[in-house]
Amino acid sequence: MAWIPKPSASMKIERRDEPYLTQAMKDELSQRYLPRFETTLAALLPALHMIQHEYHWVPPQAMEEIAEFLGLSPADVLDTATFYEEYALAPRGRHVVGVCRSIACEFCGQPQVTQAIKDTLGIDVGETTADGKVCLVELECLGSCGTAPAALIDEELHEQLTPQRAAELVRQVRSQDAPPPASGREGLAPETASNAPKGASKSAPKSAH
Ligand code: FES
Repeated sequence: MAWIPKPSASMKIERRDEPYLTQAMKDELSQRYLPRFETTLAALLPALHMIQHEYHWVPPQAMEEIAEFLGLSPADVLDTATFYEEYALAPRGRHVVGVCRSIACEFCGQPQVTQAIKDTLGIDVGETTADGKVCLVELECLGSCGTAPAALIDEELHEQLTPQRAAELVRQVRSQDAPPPASGREGLAPETASNAPKGASKSAPKSAH
């Protein structure tokens, strides 16, 4: 574990005229989520999920829009988005390969699986292939320790991976034009982009900030 400084104080926010948090998203938050909770803060995770599901990452402008809509400070939104691995704080490839790096998977061959994926894609963890198709991230426990090593590929859980099977899967996913429809939800500077996807997994705190 290491401290990774966040350039939030000096970061430049790229803006666009069209809001990221659409009226449809606001309506869903208002009608489906906010009535369940006593505080608007409790709807922050669903709001971030919506943004990431739609855009495959959480742009800084979107964080500001969420903060304004929920009556929170932008710092609250930023803190939450940077705490959980599943939120991408920089644009990622169309496909996300997330390998569990927690202890059961590590003992059961995760380093070899990750290496096979790195060799197949020609990228390191936290990077995206030059064609923009696939990015590789590492995740904390996916709750599938009994069938380790495990990985999420475009939010689909793959278990008992071998290096050969992992390489085969990433070759398949790279040959696809777009990821399959996500089941649930889905900035900062690129150097903070060691993030992870959500999916079947629980929200996993980032291991370092
Ligand atoms: S340690 Fe990898 S799924 Fe639990």
